[in-house]
Amino acid sequence: MNTDFLIDAATRAREHAHAPFSKFRVGAAVEDAAGQIHTGCNVENATYGLTVCAERIAVFKAISEGARGFRRVAIVADTDTLTPPCGACRQILWEFCGDVEIVLANLRGKSETLRLGTLFPRAFDASFL
Ligand code: THU
Repeated sequence: MNTDFLIDAATRAREHAHAPFSKFRVGAAVEDAAGQIHTGCNVENATYGLTVCAERIAVFKAISEGARGFRRVAIVADTDTLTPPCGACRQILWEFCGDVEIVLANLRGKSETLRLGTLFPRAFDASFL
């Protein structure tokens, strides 16, 4: 399936990144079961530790708007080696998206699609509780 529109949405969201400390701007876009796109960008904080990544913002925005059944997630950053989600985001993505397709992309047309289970094997989740 074509991923261009999802990458475009994440690229546009990246423009809103609040990253005055790291200058590292990230955009994310999540496609839900209805085909709606929910986006996020990283939002940093002067205390650093309160920074929230683009992926978590996109997922939390989507959840808070009632969206469910996520099919694909695009993550865009300006790096030659495609930027993968951090550990915290992998856990959150697993919780709400399961073994979803993850599309990593940069600003120069490079992209790669893989499954979250590949990036995050043997995850802890509610099935253990
Ligand atoms: N960041 C993301 O938003 N997503 C990632 O996948 C990697 C890291 C942000 C967090 C912080 O604002 C900046 O990038 C540098 O770590």
